[in-house]
Amino acid sequence: MLHNKINKPENSKAKEVREEPVKDISLGQNKKISRKQFFQRIGLISLLPLAGIWFSAAERAQIRERQIKTIDIPSNVPYGISFFGAVIVSKNDEQTNIFSAKCTHLGCIINKSEDGALVCPCHGSRFSANGKVIKGPADKSLEKLPYKTNPRTGEITVEVLV
Ligand code: FES
Repeated sequence: MLHNKINKPENSKAKEVREEPVKDISLGQNKKISRKQFFQRIGLISLLPLAGIWFSAAERAQIRERQIKTIDIPSNVPYGISFFGAVIVSKNDEQTNIFSAKCTHLGCIINKSEDGALVCPCHGSRFSANGKVIKGPADKSLEKLPYKTNPRTGEITVEVLV
């Protein structure tokens, strides 16, 4: 046990030395730490929030990775509109567009078309074959997704956040 020495005044007859324990706040024990140790501990403690931020970012990245779904679309997808779960393929002579099937209003999955328009089953928003809003309540175009085409097979691969 470490102690501080407290001397009584010089004029006291009995020169008694009383010892007071010094309490280490961080450990709750009667232990004295050096200035260097103190700053080392403070340094380590100050790193904890950074570690928390790093773990949080890593966790978010893992969650996002788990939410990405890869969808393979066959090379012989027909002209017009086709539904592949979370994605919609709109193909004509000139181009192929791939959209997220998630409605931009409240996120319902669009899974049908009427008269060449994509129709949301939840609140009736309608989108053109190129993803633009024809009728609300949605007010944003469908999200156009990048895709890769296999040059050998013509198969399309698209990643979508589900
Ligand atoms: Fe599609 Fe509301 S979620 S119109």
